[in-house]
Amino acid sequence: SSSSSSAAPLPPPAASRSTSQNDVHPKLRRDASDFEFGATLGEGSYSTVMAARDKHTGSWYAIKILDKKHIIRHKKVKYVDIEKNTLNRMNHPGIVRLYWTFHDQQQLYFVLDLARNGELLTYIKKVRANSLATPLGAFDLPTTQFYAAEILSAIEHVHEMGVIHRDIKPENILLDENMHIKLTDFGTAKILESLDDGGKDSLTRHRANSWVGTAEYVSPELLNDKSTCKAYASSAIISFLLILKSAAPNQSPTNTNSPAASPHLSTSSDLWALGCIIYQLLTGRPPFKGSNEYLTFEKIKNLQYTFPYGFPDVARDLVSKLLVLDPATRLGAPEQGGIKALKAHAFFEGIDWERLFELPAPKLH
Ligand code: ADE
Repeated sequence: SSSSSSAAPLPPPAASRSTSQNDVHPKLRRDASDFEFGATLGEGSYSTVMAARDKHTGSWYAIKILDKKHIIRHKKVKYVDIEKNTLNRMNHPGIVRLYWTFHDQQQLYFVLDLARNGELLTYIKKVRANSLATPLGAFDLPTTQFYAAEILSAIEHVHEMGVIHRDIKPENILLDENMHIKLTDFGTAKILESLDDGGKDSLTRHRANSWVGTAEYVSPELLNDKSTCKAYASSAIISFLLILKSAAPNQSPTNTNSPAASPHLSTSSDLWALGCIIYQLLTGRPPFKGSNEYLTFEKIKNLQYTFPYGFPDVARDLVSKLLVLDPATRLGAPEQGGIKALKAHAFFEGIDWERLFELPAPKLH
């Protein structure tokens, strides 16, 4: 946030520029006065997202607004920086695009794609509530295959751009007006050092130390990596102390079954999350869920999950190859032929990877 206004690396797609804009002298820079703000779409602890209409073009966007004082006071400057830098690298139909960033005295603004249909999680819950339609409780197999393919396609692009997302979950998978996905929230992403300047190392490590993600989708190697999981570790310790206070646990709290902590973070953490999401799309619930974070982490580290009766064999085969404790052994890991090998799994048979985002999305029941 050194410049007062920075243009996005690429022009907006033709579809969103089709309204009455001045094509002779297009205004490339934007500030808050260029937008009419509408409904609040979401509120996080460090940001508010609002729908906003570009006064010049009529196009709608989602604008993420961050309060400068709050960001500085809570030492989140590096998170905001990572979010901007990683989003700027992305150019994929399944990932929210960053069009402009600007700031005024009080606030930072990220102008993003508006995903009109909100979070995938909402639809998993909705379909689950109407689950007369499906034997397992959520999406049918073709719908699951479609959304899993879109998510994988987005993940592939993130990794190709030298980034690990690290917080892929149904709340961060938004849906556009055509019910295609838009992956969002790169605030906890990691820029891979080999593809970036070495100077980013201490920066990203610092951010990783205060990272708080979502328990249910975190991979075992992230849980076991002390440098990335201070927040997880402390919340797990608090949960454990609460258990000690209420009832004597009959299990040892020390973790014995987990693999050795991996020295390097790998892209396969995002593939673990994909495995969790495919399971959740079919059943309506994540595979690892304890009554508190400590118990959830124990389940993850012990690979303690089961497939309900009726879980399709082809999905079972795929999920069991993604939910593997050793990140190097996971299907889709660089060591296992990469994402190409994962795309070749029978679960994805019939997927047209090139045209996925142009096809009509399956109807939800
Ligand atoms: N909530 C958070 N980000 C959003 C976006 N880009 N579109 C719609 N709702 C959102």
